[in-house]
Amino acid sequence: MSEPLLIPADAYVSKDYAEAEADRLWAKVWQQVGRVEEIPEVGSFITYEICDDSILIVRSAPDTIKAFHNVCTHRGRRLVSTPKGAHSAAGKQKKFVCGYHAWTFDTNGKATYILDQSDWKGQLTEMCTNLREVKVDTWGGWIFINMDIECEPLREFLEPVASLLDPFEFEQMRYRFRAWGIFDCNWKVALEAFLEPYHVAGTHPQLTKYGDFYAWSRALGRHGHDGYDTKEHKVAGQDVAADTSVHRAAKGEDARISTAQMQQEFWDTVGAATTETLVKAAQRLVHELPAGTPAAEVHHHWLESARRDDAERGVIWPEISDKQMSDAGLAQSIFPNMNFLPGPTFLLYYRVRPYGTDPDKCIYEAIALDRFPPGQQPHTEWQYLEQDPDRWPYVIGQDISNMIEVQKGLKSRGFAGNLPNPWQERKVSNLHRNLAEYMGMGEPRLLESELPGQ
Ligand code: FES
Ligand SMILES: [Fe+2]
Repeated sequence: MSEPLLIPADAYVSKDYAEAEADRLWAKVWQQVGRVEEIPEVGSFITYEICDDSILIVRSAPDTIKAFHNVCTHRGRRLVSTPKGAHSAAGKQKKFVCGYHAWTFDTNGKATYILDQSDWKGQLTEMCTNLREVKVDTWGGWIFINMDIECEPLREFLEPVASLLDPFEFEQMRYRFRAWGIFDCNWKVALEAFLEPYHVAGTHPQLTKYGDFYAWSRALGRHGHDGYDTKEHKVAGQDVAADTSVHRAAKGEDARISTAQMQQEFWDTVGAATTETLVKAAQRLVHELPAGTPAAEVHHHWLESARRDDAERGVIWPEISDKQMSDAGLAQSIFPNMNFLPGPTFLLYYRVRPYGTDPDKCIYEAIALDRFPPGQQPHTEWQYLEQDPDRWPYVIGQDISNMIEVQKGLKSRGFAGNLPNPWQERKVSNLHRNLAEYMGMGEPRLLESELPGQ
């Protein structure tokens, strides 16, 4: 992936590819379906749609989560329907009654009521009537499912990114907001809009006054991460945390002032990737530190005072060493469809998936998690937002404005394929390298071999 590559556009635009993806990728891969706290009690459930499949995720015992294909085993009615226009179904019930002939299933997927069962002459065994289970496991407070019952364990699938991110203790965080929309682009187009900071100068020019967005980008097995870099290509992991993570000090003559401005800008235009505590602590820097304080000291002071402020309101920061912070970097991707921007008490993440098997549509989600004082987490619901960029936080709207135009451009007869940056966009190349492994097609090709006359 360090070589210049060309990625064919089929993966984004071909109907055949999108249909094959349902079988070869989505039916085989671990995918995040929600948070553990969404199903707190026995009988709490949520549903998850992927391509033409629907999965029902239920807490079947205080410490057991089960997941089933959301289809009645009698004649195939969708067992739990999603209310019109809703993101998914959610609720709490002890049994699931099919709307067609009232077959009834308990939270373990067992059929507990079948009208006139004796008509089947004793042939209707549990094997044919129980709901079909799918694999389910949790990490970081998220629930993951896999429809392939032969799949590798979740933890194995998530390594090495899981170990890299464990210090952030995402399981201690809760939803602050969760927004979703149905967009007119392939799921990979929407995801890739967040996989690299290479686009910041072109898409979010207002942010470049606070920092340079030159970044390294690396594969972590199937997954990937990136971090701020200098053009001398420092090796990832050797930078100090202040340089690589999302809450670095801002550039400029006076880091006290620029850091406060940058934090305010993030708060106002992203609404995430920082917290009110960090914004307020940054605003105090100018009163607490003398002019001329070096940027690294400003950064250290800022984080320590935010940590104290949070502790006072009952939000205890996890112990993340500078090395762990810089090893994690700025943003991490989890194959196939998530990207993270974490901090000590917050996470902004994106999940994108296909809408049915239409290559030109996707379900896009932007989610903010925070650590809250005990018992003070807000009640949140999925909020539907149109793909109109003005409906979204300003910075995310800027990203959205690219997505639809990219989907159009990818179909142009004049477009030969993606040319990802070999240093700064390796997460994009790695996504396609791994996709190709599942799909058996679409692998990135060496650009050199694509040149005319070769
Ligand atoms: S299809 Fe569900 S009970 Fe008949
Ligand atoms: Fe962006």
